Amino acid sequence: MINNKYGHFTDDHREFVITDPRTPRPWFNYMWNEHYGGLISHTGGGFSFLDCPRDNRITRMRYNCLPWDRPGRYVIVKDSVTGKFWSLSWAPTIDLKYDKYECRHGQGYTSITTEINGIRGEITYFVPTDVNAEVWKVKLTNLTGEKRSLEIYSFTELMMGNALNDIINQPNDKHFTDIHFDKAYETLVSTRRYWVLNKKVSVVQPNIDWKYKLYFTSTLPVTGFDGSLDKFIGRWRSESNPVSIETSTMNNTEITAGDPIAALQSKIELNANGSIDFATILAIVPKSEEQPFEFVKWKELKKIETLQTKFQQVKQHWNEYLGHVSVETPDEKINAMLNVWNQYQCAVTFDMARNSGYYHGGLLFGTGIRDQFQDILGMVIANPERVRARLLNALRFQFKNGSTLHNFFKMTDSGEKTNHSDTPLWIPFGIIEYLNETADYSILEETVRFYDEGSGTVYEHLVKALDFAISATTERGLPKIMNGDWNDTLDHIGPLGKGETVWGAFFLAYMLKKTFELLDHRNDSDTRQRWEKFYAKLEKVTNEVCWDGEWYLRAFRDNGESVGSKKYKQGKIFINAQTWSVISGLAPKDRADKALQSTKNHLGTPYGIQIVWPSYTEVEDTIGLISRCVPGKKENGAVFNHASSWFILASIINGDVESAFDIYTKMLPLNSSANIDRYETEPYVFAEYVTSPDHETENQASHSWLTGTAVWMYRIALDYIIGFRTSLKGITFAPNIPSHWKIFKAERTFRGKRFFLTVKNPEGGNSTIRSLKINGKEVENSVIDVASFTESNITVEIILGKK
Ligand code: GLC
Repeated sequence: MINNKYGHFTDDHREFVITDPRTPRPWFNYMWNEHYGGLISHTGGGFSFLDCPRDNRITRMRYNCLPWDRPGRYVIVKDSVTGKFWSLSWAPTIDLKYDKYECRHGQGYTSITTEINGIRGEITYFVPTDVNAEVWKVKLTNLTGEKRSLEIYSFTELMMGNALNDIINQPNDKHFTDIHFDKAYETLVSTRRYWVLNKKVSVVQPNIDWKYKLYFTSTLPVTGFDGSLDKFIGRWRSESNPVSIETSTMNNTEITAGDPIAALQSKIELNANGSIDFATILAIVPKSEEQPFEFVKWKELKKIETLQTKFQQVKQHWNEYLGHVSVETPDEKINAMLNVWNQYQCAVTFDMARNSGYYHGGLLFGTGIRDQFQDILGMVIANPERVRARLLNALRFQFKNGSTLHNFFKMTDSGEKTNHSDTPLWIPFGIIEYLNETADYSILEETVRFYDEGSGTVYEHLVKALDFAISATTERGLPKIMNGDWNDTLDHIGPLGKGETVWGAFFLAYMLKKTFELLDHRNDSDTRQRWEKFYAKLEKVTNEVCWDGEWYLRAFRDNGESVGSKKYKQGKIFINAQTWSVISGLAPKDRADKALQSTKNHLGTPYGIQIVWPSYTEVEDTIGLISRCVPGKKENGAVFNHASSWFILASIINGDVESAFDIYTKMLPLNSSANIDRYETEPYVFAEYVTSPDHETENQASHSWLTGTAVWMYRIALDYIIGFRTSLKGITFAPNIPSHWKIFKAERTFRGKRFFLTVKNPEGGNSTIRSLKINGKEVENSVIDVASFTESNITVEIILGKK
């Protein structure tokens, strides 16, 4: 069993069980469908939104709140005889002594079990797959031999609309709320009579309607309600002691102004040792529907049996999603990640972007183009259809000249053009990864608009992105860094348009090479020749002017001075220039060896590879924000996991499997969180970064969940360690394992077939294949075209070792 002092995984790794609620930070999970959902903490905290967490927030989260993680989705039980009351999710009644607390974060649901005052409460939060709603399903069990009279209070604070506006203009915002109680359906009906959908913060208030109604109800008979936060909570009080609960008196307030809350009261009797199931439901329906209650089949939905079925559908959905890949390696932590949590985190990043989390409050980023086109790597195996739709949607933000917005907001189609030099290049990256998985060439013929004018086929979008990147280079062929590259904080290297990015040169070369197979497939020899020539130019220039002796430089400033050289006292060596020199294929073997060795020597930490060393301690205006950040954190010298993951890839490509595996293992959150009180964030998912030894909070993680680390760690492990390698032509098998693995098995679906891989390693090798059998027949190791198989199950047996 994998555990730490706050919790453990279940044996099948499908749930992380938190047994002590006083975790070092709130530990989150997600519950969502394609439109509705949000995050849920182990105390019932978090927020919900429909489609966009900035423009269409449903429930409220208070930013920078003390105590942490408030408000939430609370169900409070009160004993009518003793007057004692407590929350089923621990918060907000955290000062009470519970006899038991246990939170299970699973895929798409969170269940919290408590025992206190002789009552066991089990509350399960989930979002149905097919309704824009959230359900808080409860089972209460009377652990005593006496009949109990209980009051149930379910409540959550509402936002209904633009979340940014709720923060900056809330006293005005509250003149537009409208909540009443529908007696026939025993439902609080809430709406807002205007909606801020400005593309930016503005004093101009748009005169439009919030297009939705919010329904809040219980499967129990409702004995009281409140729509007013002030009335329900009372003066000078908080969520932990609402006056309505203390006095058992609901005000039944219907409001037309004020801070909205949805609060319901029900009363139940529990027989000795008896139990009861009930649920609270919050749903969003379009105002335009003439019979909105019918629209959501409200009476049917309000039945506990319906909700049980909906919960099973959620489980089924995740079984299917996770079923596309499974591994059985000698390392239980790797199995837990690849079979469940890493795959699951990929689904979260695909849908939440960098925009809906405890560390990403949903107000600023929208969906990043750079991030989106990487995130498809994690979803494409399980759900290529969704990836296809997502690619077509995101391409709408590309300009006719091949450049692109940096990010966009789903409901307004607005975003910013920040001129980060790498952003357009992720477009072909995503398209090619989609094609590698599916061979669905039809996508290339789809027509998609450009953000400024006209439209083009997906293939034209792809070609334009790369040609734009080629055009944005200096005379000697290095890409202009413009306002930064993958590393957002290198933002002052080239304000005059002259500064160059060396990482960007490697990345451009990698992307050019990645397209060659496709260009051949399309017989596009003109483009191929043009790009091959540029690839050669990049090879030449990077090796002529970017080598610093022991490693590659990171950039050149507007005045021609380098960045990332041994001659400086800070920022001598940057990880990305080393790893991508190898990934791109541009570094000759001796330089590849040296660059990676220097990386290990200078950037290695017990938790992975740090992004730069030495971290900047003095501000350097000709480099950027990186130097303003405290040393050892974020881009200024942390183990920035996304970048660290590329070291694993580079080492494997360079033939150093043991180093790759060493870093892969160190970076697993289950390992880097060994000292959980230092690490702090969720041990079941990757965090964006772990503080390096350059800061006194060494080993503290932050920005968990929403990071490109998820998809890269997943696919590097699956493609390069386990060894399922995809390309347009098909699949290749190329495991790269540590010598101490004697055997492992893995399964993967690919283009409608299921591959069953067994790898034996009797001599303790890493990668060299002695024998490869497909469906029992010895074959040469080359690309397998799946169309040549009639069977749907294909076995692959590999024996590693010398021939
Ligand atoms: C954050 C951003 C990502 C960027 C990285 C490095 O993770 O989401 O887009 O590449 O920081 O600056």
